[in-house]
Amino acid sequence: MASVKCILVTGGAGYIGSHTVIELLDAGYDVVVLDNLVNASMESIKRVEDISGKKIQTYNVDLLDAKALEDVFNKHKFDGVIHFAGLKAVGESCELPLLYYKTNVGGTMNLLEIMEKKNVKNVVFSSSATVYGTPSYLPLDEKHPVGGCTNPYGKTKYFIEEILRDVCKANKEWNVVLLRYFNPVGSHISGKIGEDPQGLPNNLMPFVAQVAVGKRKELKVFGSDYDTPDGTGVRDYIHVVDLAKGHVASLKKIEEKCGCKTYNLGTGRGCSVLDMVKAFETASGKKIPYSLEPRRAGDVASCYGSTDLAEKELGWKAQKDLNTMCTDLWRWQSSNPNGYRV
Ligand code: WQD
Repeated sequence: MASVKCILVTGGAGYIGSHTVIELLDAGYDVVVLDNLVNASMESIKRVEDISGKKIQTYNVDLLDAKALEDVFNKHKFDGVIHFAGLKAVGESCELPLLYYKTNVGGTMNLLEIMEKKNVKNVVFSSSATVYGTPSYLPLDEKHPVGGCTNPYGKTKYFIEEILRDVCKANKEWNVVLLRYFNPVGSHISGKIGEDPQGLPNNLMPFVAQVAVGKRKELKVFGSDYDTPDGTGVRDYIHVVDLAKGHVASLKKIEEKCGCKTYNLGTGRGCSVLDMVKAFETASGKKIPYSLEPRRAGDVASCYGSTDLAEKELGWKAQKDLNTMCTDLWRWQSSNPNGYRV
C-alpha cells in the first residue's frame, strides 16, 4: 500500500480547511496550504501553527492562475490533494453565477490538469449535501439521486463531482473521495480558530453566535410553517472537527487505491432551528432573541444524512454532540468577537 505523505490543501486557510490541516498534522502528514485569501486570512494559518507547533508552507495563489499553481507543484512532490478552495455562498451564487462557475469549476479544472501533468492522482473533494436537491427520502444515503440542486453554488459541486467521476472512469490510476458535508458548526477546542464569515452571516450558527456577542440584534428564523416537529427547518449539524477527521480517514481510503468513492459526512440526526437556538442558549448562557419570518427561497424543510457507509468503509463516525458544538462555537466567538480581524 503506497503511503500518502505530503498533502496539498487548497483553501487550507478557510474554516473547514484550517481545522483539517490540524488533523492532518496530528496524523503525521506533511501539509502545504494554497489559498487565495479571498474568504480567509493568514491569521488563521498563524493560529494553526500556534496550535500544532509546526510551520506551515502557505502559498497565496488563486487556482485560476495556472502558472502560479504549476510553480507550487514544481516546488513539492505531493502525494495527494484535499480540495476545499471555492466560493460557497448560495445566495451570492444566484446573483453571480459566472463568477461561481469560473471560480469553482474553472479553478478545479486548472487544479486537475496540473495534477494529471505532475502525476498526482489522489484527491479528496469537498462536496456538499446540497447536491441532493430536495430530498425524495430521508435520511439521505449516497444512492439518493443527485443534480437536483437549483442554485449555481450547489450545481458547481455537482458538476465537479461529475468531472471527477469521469476522470476516474477514463483513468484507473486516479483515486477520488467525494465528501458530501451536511452542516458544519463549532470550532477547535482551543477557541483560536473558527468560522469567520465576511459581512452578514448566511448560515444559522455563525449568526446565532454573533447575536450572542451583541454583534447582531436578533435572529430571523426563516420559516416556522414547515412540516417539521416545531415548524422550523431541520438540518444535520456536524462538529467541524469531526468533519476534519473524516478527511484523514478518506486519505487512508485513497491509500487503498479506492478508485472513486462517495461518502456523506454528517451525524444522521436532524435538529430544527429552534433546537439549535435552545442548545446554544444552554451552552453559552446567553439569551438569543429571534423573530419568526417567512421561509427563505431555496430552503428545504428537512435535510439530514445516513452515515452508515462512511462508518463501514472509512471507519469514521461523528463523535461530538450538540452541546459540544455549541460550547466550542461560543468559546471561539466570545474570545474573537470580530473573528480574525483583531
Ligand atoms: C440552516 C437552517 C435556514 C440562517 C447551507 C448551504 C450548504 C452548506 C451549509 C456549504 C435553515 C435557517 C439560517 C438564518 C435561519 N454550505 N436559518 N436564519 O441552508 O442548510 O445549508 O450551508 O456547503 O451547501 O446550502 O444552512 O445555516 O444557511 O440554514 O432561520 O439567519 O437555518 O432556513 O433552515 P443550509 P444554513
